[in-house]
This record gives sequence, structure tokens and C-alpha cells, in this order.
Amino acid sequence: MSSSLKALSVALALVTGLASVQAFEGIGRSATQPEIKAWDIDVRPDFKGLPPGRGTVAQGQELWEAKCAGCHGVFGESNEVFSPLIGGTTKEDIKNGRVASLRDNSFPGRTTMMKVSQLSSLWDYINRAMPWTAPKSLKPDEVYAVTAYMLSLADVLPADGELSDKNIAEVQQRLPNRNGKSTRHALWPGAEFAAGAKPDVQGSACVKNCAPEAKVASYLPDFARDAHGNLAQQQRLVGPQRGIDTQAKAPPAQAAAAKPVSALLQQHACMACHQIDSKVVGPSFREVVAKYKDRSDAREYYAAKLKSGSAGTWGAVPMPPQALPEADLAAIAAWLAAGARP
Ligand code: HEC
Ligand code: HEC
Repeated sequence: MSSSLKALSVALALVTGLASVQAFEGIGRSATQPEIKAWDIDVRPDFKGLPPGRGTVAQGQELWEAKCAGCHGVFGESNEVFSPLIGGTTKEDIKNGRVASLRDNSFPGRTTMMKVSQLSSLWDYINRAMPWTAPKSLKPDEVYAVTAYMLSLADVLPADGELSDKNIAEVQQRLPNRNGKSTRHALWPGAEFAAGAKPDVQGSACVKNCAPEAKVASYLPDFARDAHGNLAQQQRLVGPQRGIDTQAKAPPAQAAAAKPVSALLQQHACMACHQIDSKVVGPSFREVVAKYKDRSDAREYYAAKLKSGSAGTWGAVPMPPQALPEADLAAIAAWLAAGARP
């Protein structure tokens, strides 16, 4: 599960720890039982803390479409606000309890369902943190229902299935990556790890005679430089899965043809410096096309200018070279040459 989950459970451990500490003389007051109870919502791997309740896949689907699909996609596949929740698991994984695609470096991403090894984590996280815009607004039955729906999308539960406090331990035994969590290290030391476990990263802070400048000790090897396509051409809003080589799958010409120029101007951040009708950092597109309207080679001119950048024509501020896919560049240049009409 993502680091946010880890951070949350650490934070929670701290909070519950503090609540049981005796009040300091003259500072604050002890937390009341109801206050502690309100904080104490964690569900543990052995399902301690799980409130009773139940929800069906069908109920979950309805809730999902109303409260989750907008951000995570109808099938949990969206890569827009967060990496996909669902995908990358197979019936074989459900049998083995290990997700094979996690070991396949060519697999494009890591979904939540691929990684999660403990159903309690999924239930707990949704219960405390989702929907993003209204955390803790779901009733326990609703958390069971959306979790059931997510599990059905991954074939862990059948379409007419349900999840409840009664069957959750059983369903855990079908979680695709249930055996995927390793404890043979100091982060979550398991029984097989020797006593006296220390974190596996051991650094020491430099406090004297520190080198004044950082020294780069290793570089990305040449063969890996372009492994994910040209990073400069990729602009994604959020999410950890940057760098997918989309050019390899769909020729850029097709991708560009599907998009209106207004979307390309947004995507390539032109509108951060330009507007159609007014000067911002750079000249308005209206002024630009008026200046070059009589050029017969306007299209080539614009394409070249975008590639090389521009300085000294419109004022003191230069435009840096614009790195964008050929097809997008051609579409924008053609649009400018045709008069930058909306
Ligand atoms: C407004 C957008 C939004 C909505 C609506 C939303 N989520 Fe999320 N969800 C997010 C974001 C953003 C994250 C990542 C949060 C982070 O890591 O800090 C996330 C993370 C998650 C995760 C954790 C995945 C992981 O691997 O860590 C789960 C599970 C999840 N959402 C389920 C749901 C469910 C179920 C609903 C509906 C009840 C829902 N979300 C509604 C935006 C949303
Ligand atoms: C960081 C701000 C910035 C960004 C981003 C930017 N521009 Fe510019 N642009 C400028 C400035 C400043 C000028 C004026 C440069 C000069 O004096 O020649 C300019 C000039 C231009 C010109 C006129 C060139 C000429 O020969 O007169 C065009 C056409 C243009 N930009 C298009 C674009 C397009 C299309 C994009 C997006 C792919 C873009 N710009 C992105 C700041 C920017």
C-alpha cells in the first residue's frame, strides 16, 4: 500500500499513544473516553477494531459510481488523480497469493490491488480517508459495500458477492497479493528476522568537517536515459506513474489529431504565457498572427520558432525552446498560420 497509508498508521499510533499518557501538570487535560474512542478507528491485520456490518457488490457499485468513480474511474482504472486502484491481477494470483506482474518490469504500473496484502488496510484506509473530499463520511456498511465492489472488479468476489465482518477473514484468503508482504527486514520485522532488528538504512548525520558541496556519486546510465521516452515532453498533473512511453503505443499523429488545438495549448503550457487576445508574459496570439499574416511560409516559421525559442522580437523577455511532440507542434503551427481562430 502507498506511503500515505503507512504515514497514517504511524500518525494514528502516535495519537493513541499520547491519549493514554498522564496529563502534564497545568498543561491541557486528559483525553476523555469518547475522544479516544473517536480517534481509535484503526483496523488491524487480524481485523481487531473492525466494526460489524455488511455490504454487497451491487450496493457498492452504486456508491462507487456516486462517490468514487469521479476520481478513480468507473472500474478503478483511472490514472488522473492517483495511480489506478484496480488492474494487473489475475485468477492465478488469487490462487497463489502473489501478484506475478509485480515482478514483471515491463508492466506499466503498480495498482493498489496488486500491492495490498492485507484487506484490513484497504478497509481501514477507505474508512478513514475516502472519499478524498469527505473523509469519514461513509457508514461502516457503505465501506463494506465499496470495498466489496473493488474486490469484485478484481475477481476476488463474485458479482453477487458481499463483504462483512463475518466473511472478511475468508475473503482475505483470496487477496491476490496476500503472501506478497515480506517481513524479512527491519521495517516490519517478522518472526523470521533475528532479534535486535535495526532499520535497514543506517545513516549518520555529518556535523563537523562536512564537505561544502554535494558530490554526485552516480549517474543514470546511458542505456537507461531514454528508457521512458523524452521526459521533457511529458507533463502529467499528479500521480506517481510518469514516463509511460505513449509514443510507442499510439503514433503521436493520431493522438494529436484527436485533440483540439485549445487542449494542446493547455497541455503544453502555452497558456501560462500567452492568451489569444491579450498580452501576458508573451504577445497575444492575435498580435502574433497579425504580424506574420503575409508570410507564405508562416507554418514553417512558427514551427521553427517554437522549436528554437524566440528572443528580441516582442520585448525583453525571451521564450524558451518549446519541447513538444512533432505532431502537436505541427498542429499548433498550422493553427497559427491559419489565423489562430478559436
Ligand atoms: C476527489 C477525488 C477522490 C474521490 C472522490 C475518491 N478518492 Fe480515493 N483517492 C484520491 C486520492 C487523491 C488518493 C491518494 C491519496 C494519497 O495518497 O494521499 C486516493 C487514494 C485512494 C485509495 C488508496 C490507494 C493506495 O494505494 O494507497 C483508495 C483505496 C481509495 N482512494 C478509494 C476510494 C473510494 C472507495 C472512494 C469512494 C468512496 C474514493 N476513493 C473517492 C482521490 C479521491
Ligand atoms: C515561459 C513563457 C512562454 C511559454 C511557456 C510560451 N511562450 Fe511563446 N512567447 C513567449 C515570449 C516572452 C515571447 C516573445 C519572445 C520574443 O520577444 O521574441 C513569445 C513568442 C511567441 C511567438 C511569436 C514568435 C515570433 O517569431 O514572433 C509564438 C508564435 C509563440 N510564442 C507561441 C507559443 C506556443 C505555441 C507556446 C506553447 C507551445 C508558447 N509560445 C509557450 C513566452 C512563452
